[in-house]
Amino acid sequence: PQQCNLAGSWKNDLGSKMYVSKVDDKGNFLGEYHTAVSSAQKPIEPSPLVGSQHLDEDGQCTFGFTVNWKFSDSTAVFVGQCFAEKGEEILQTSWLLREKVDSQSSNWKATRTGQNTFTRMC
Ligand code: BTN
Repeated sequence: PQQCNLAGSWKNDLGSKMYVSKVDDKGNFLGEYHTAVSSAQKPIEPSPLVGSQHLDEDGQCTFGFTVNWKFSDSTAVFVGQCFAEKGEEILQTSWLLREKVDSQSSNWKATRTGQNTFTRMC
């Protein structure tokens, strides 16, 4: 069986949860992201994600996905790599969060970046 398949439930260091449905034979997947934090003024809602992963069998594949937030005008992209060490799968990711701004004069402040670590939930 494929190692480091992203399918399943994951939780990150902020407490956000992500549910990835089956990864297809090309490495494409869909899922739902439940963020624990938000910069938006509206109540948080589960939001759809779409992504793809390499299907390397060494358990160290890279991947990326986009989250289209349902409760805000923002979009997030995550890129990362899976590591399977000591029987634990860890996703090391970096993200960009693009916020909608009124005009190009505000473009400079529209993108945040950061890193998140995900572990598999039972
Ligand atoms: C928004 O603030 O407009 C939508 C929610 C953004 C949540 C961000 S995405 C990167 C970081 N990692 C998380 O799990 N949540 C935050």
